[in-house]
Amino acid sequence: MSMLSDGVSTGVGRLPAHVVAAGTGKGRPTYVYDLAALRARCAEISALPLPRKRVYFASMANDHPQVIGCVRDAGHGVFVNSRSHLQTALNAGVPPDRVLYASSNMVDEEMRHCADLGVRVVLDSVAQVGRFGVVAGPGHEIGLRVSVGFIDGATLRDDPGYRFGVRPDELPAAVAAAREHGLLIAGVHSYFGTNLPAAPLIDGIERLAEAAATLPDIAFLDAGGGFGVAMPDKPEFDFDTYTRGVRAHLERLERRVGRAVEFVLEPGRYLAANCGHFFVTVVDVKERADRVFVGTNASVAVFPRPLMYPDRAEHPCGIVGRDPLDPPDERPVYVCGSSTYSQDFLARGIRLPLPQIGDTLVFGHAGAYCRSMVTRFLGKDAPLEVILDGPSSAVSATAEVDLLAKTAVTTS
Ligand SMILES: Cc1ncc(COP(=O)(O)O)c(C=O)c1O
Repeated sequence: MSMLSDGVSTGVGRLPAHVVAAGTGKGRPTYVYDLAALRARCAEISALPLPRKRVYFASMANDHPQVIGCVRDAGHGVFVNSRSHLQTALNAGVPPDRVLYASSNMVDEEMRHCADLGVRVVLDSVAQVGRFGVVAGPGHEIGLRVSVGFIDGATLRDDPGYRFGVRPDELPAAVAAAREHGLLIAGVHSYFGTNLPAAPLIDGIERLAEAAATLPDIAFLDAGGGFGVAMPDKPEFDFDTYTRGVRAHLERLERRVGRAVEFVLEPGRYLAANCGHFFVTVVDVKERADRVFVGTNASVAVFPRPLMYPDRAEHPCGIVGRDPLDPPDERPVYVCGSSTYSQDFLARGIRLPLPQIGDTLVFGHAGAYCRSMVTRFLGKDAPLEVILDGPSSAVSATAEVDLLAKTAVTTS
């Protein structure tokens, strides 16, 4: 495993010195977000050769106001699925016409609020289309989530247990419900899963385009997010293949319906994961015959991807300042939190040189689905958050923001 190219050794690669400086010696677990890295990802997505493309960052990946503000400055919109995140986006200066609200089981107040603001709404069922018509009144364009399959591993498949969207055979009923209430179904939407490779995503978009072609007022196709974020030793997401495949399906769709169709993306993890690093301190090391337990001052309650996805969550991990030539211990290393919760593992069975008490460990890919998933479970102190903007940015006290500030216990 390696992390980034220049800077301070972590024992598994090198991290930029300003990121390491911002994350160490803080006395408690610390997230560091480098907006320069986020901006670079935003630019990468902007440059994808896809016609009529609109990008809405999935705020569920990271709802930090400065992260949202950085996405706004890059010219992108924000996809939200709650009123709280809608407010975060608006507070960060994202104009309502750059917000997409897609949820399921929306209540009347949510629908009314979205309609009043004029944010783009994606609904999840035929009944919700009718309800939106009643609550919001006629004259709105809406999107509709369509269930065209889910990607499991690297295969697109149908799952009768998949709870989202309308089936393609329900589309005529949805169109009828929309007409009855003076609404237009202008878009189709699907989300195929997270951390995916390109090929099955393209298959999913082909199916979504098939569904879109049956809608009389189709104007946008929203294919969600899901772009894979590669571990250091794995290939990057193949955007060349992706854009070629998507273009072919969009061109075919546009020929069939005889009009331009906007292509909507909702990337979360791909934009935000690599701008974030999580720093923790080693407070104990237990050497067993077949493994090493490394105890830290953090917890899965505040680094929650391994809590939510214990079988799938992977993060690069290294020891700050460790000689890059140090070999990993021959035993698998389990990085643990400071609690009595049996599953409080920040990483399981990883390869790492033997850490020592007082070492700083750093986890990469910590900018997505980490701060937004922090839980009060275990009552842990909130980590610090430090926002940087490239190597020359000063780390000031005002740049440090307490997560869950109301429940944080400050150490001095
Ligand atoms: C509807 C929808 N769109 C976009 C995303 C973002 O996905 P990712 O972070 O995998 O890009 C999610 C995440 O769950 C989602 O549910």
